[in-house]
Amino acid sequence: MPLSNAPAAVGINPESYRFLQDYVYRESGIVLDGDKQYLLEARLTPILRQRQLASLNDLCALLQATAEAPLKRQVVEAMTTHETFFFREAAQFDALRTTVLPELIQLHQDTQKLAFWSAASSFGQEAYTLAMLLLEMGLGGWKIQILGTDLSTQAVERARAGKYLQIEVNRGLPAAYLVKYFTRVGLDWQLKDEVRKMVRYEAMDLRQSMRTLGPFDIVFCRNVLIYFDIESKKKILTELRGTLFRGGYLLLGGSETTLNLANEFERKMFGPAAFYRAP
Ligand SMILES: C[S@@+](CC[C@H](N)C(=O)[O-])C[C@H]1O[C@@H](n2cnc3c(N)ncnc32)[C@H](O)[C@@H]1O
Repeated sequence: MPLSNAPAAVGINPESYRFLQDYVYRESGIVLDGDKQYLLEARLTPILRQRQLASLNDLCALLQATAEAPLKRQVVEAMTTHETFFFREAAQFDALRTTVLPELIQLHQDTQKLAFWSAASSFGQEAYTLAMLLLEMGLGGWKIQILGTDLSTQAVERARAGKYLQIEVNRGLPAAYLVKYFTRVGLDWQLKDEVRKMVRYEAMDLRQSMRTLGPFDIVFCRNVLIYFDIESKKKILTELRGTLFRGGYLLLGGSETTLNLANEFERKMFGPAAFYRAP
């Protein structure tokens, strides 16, 4: 029921809560288990205000009644967490620099080709961190393929733009990289084309078939499996395995593992960083 000037009173009844749980799961694979009412309220209240709806129940009614794609997308966008930053899980990037990439460089000396995938790339910091690291390691002349994908088309657009707020470059990015690879544009920081052009971004749902992707030397799939149920995790890990070269590596987030989900991966520790090696 649309309202005019009244502030949104966001309450939700159990049927609407279940509807939104199912809806978000169907559209993204994200599981809203337990009592996530606070999360729904926090994330969806801006949509209520924008649409002049009185409650989450009204939003559910509208979602059920409409075929309006932008509203559907808006709800899914609001429920996804895009938290990311440069050099996130720094120990993994240290291991890449000191051990894993030097080994790959040796291995591919003849072709001088390397392929990477940042699956769930969010606003692009993960893939661009890798691109800058590769440049620092003198691989600018190699044939480097880096693919970044995310469910969120908004995140993909932001990643493609390669433009970051001061607060974003303050998180994890060493000052020397900022000076070398970014240009100041007003209050923001624009990544230079040299880095930006190394990464191709596409919208993609991790639950879709990955048969046409790869093979990659390294796949980053970090801090996204935590949002999925066990069946989705297993299916995605199996698909990811199929995109890797034999001996290639999968990187997960610090709180994620393949254990009891995809036991064909071999867990290799490089200092504190876990890498999952494809057989
Ligand atoms: C927390 S961010 C992680 C970003 C980055 N990998 C990192 O570790 O910093 C999770 C990302 O997963 C994306 N995501 C959620 N569900 C997805 C799905 N089904 N397929 C692809 N990406 C998804 C979200 O849009 C979000 O950008």
